[in-house]
Amino acid sequence: MSDQVKATNITWHHADITPEDRAKQNGHKAVTLWFTGLSGSGKSTLAHAVENALFEKGCRTYVLDGDNVRHGLNKNLGFSPEDRTENIRRIGEVAKLFNEAGVLALTAFISPYREDRDAARAIAGEGTFFEIYVKCALDVCEERDPKGLYKKARAGEIPEFTGISAPYEEPNDAEIVVDTGEQSLDESTIAVLDALRAAGVIE
Ligand code: ADX
Repeated sequence: MSDQVKATNITWHHADITPEDRAKQNGHKAVTLWFTGLSGSGKSTLAHAVENALFEKGCRTYVLDGDNVRHGLNKNLGFSPEDRTENIRRIGEVAKLFNEAGVLALTAFISPYREDRDAARAIAGEGTFFEIYVKCALDVCEERDPKGLYKKARAGEIPEFTGISAPYEEPNDAEIVVDTGEQSLDESTIAVLDALRAAGVIE
């Protein structure tokens, strides 16, 4: 689905306002913070905590969240490997649009396949993509089970469930790694903000 190109006779129109103009007006660069990890690892919680801290500082931000996006833009996609690939491709493109508008995009999707995350990185462009591995042991995620989905998956009621009956490929070179089983939410939030400061994204 994702590699089909049907659009022809189309021309790119360049905006007069440059990314630098927008960064100057906003006081920060616009990058994508790509949170990846198992269901229940704390991706959404951390993405929102980071967004709150950035918002406090006057940054323009938006969180794209797996469950929310699957209610709308991606409601025609399921959890087969192909559908997950298309899910991540679309989110990569949406995050890029947010970045082009000068907004820091924070995405919270399991995004279990390395190749899909690398494709999202390529869409964003080098220097604009921060992969944040929200590490958490499977047994901890399963114990948390905030949505009761692990229980259902173990009972065989949810096929292709990540960590149980579908794979999660750990990142090899994430820009940031936090372990939510070991670190507090505050510690993880600070780790992300420190990395953004070190990279010159925020002041
Ligand atoms: S992804 O793999 O394509 O990146 P995404 O982050 O959009 O997944 O959606 C994951 C969320 O969908 C989970 O947090 C969970 O609430 C729900 N979900 C429903 N079915 C599954 C499944 N088979 N595997 C993983 N998550 C599922």
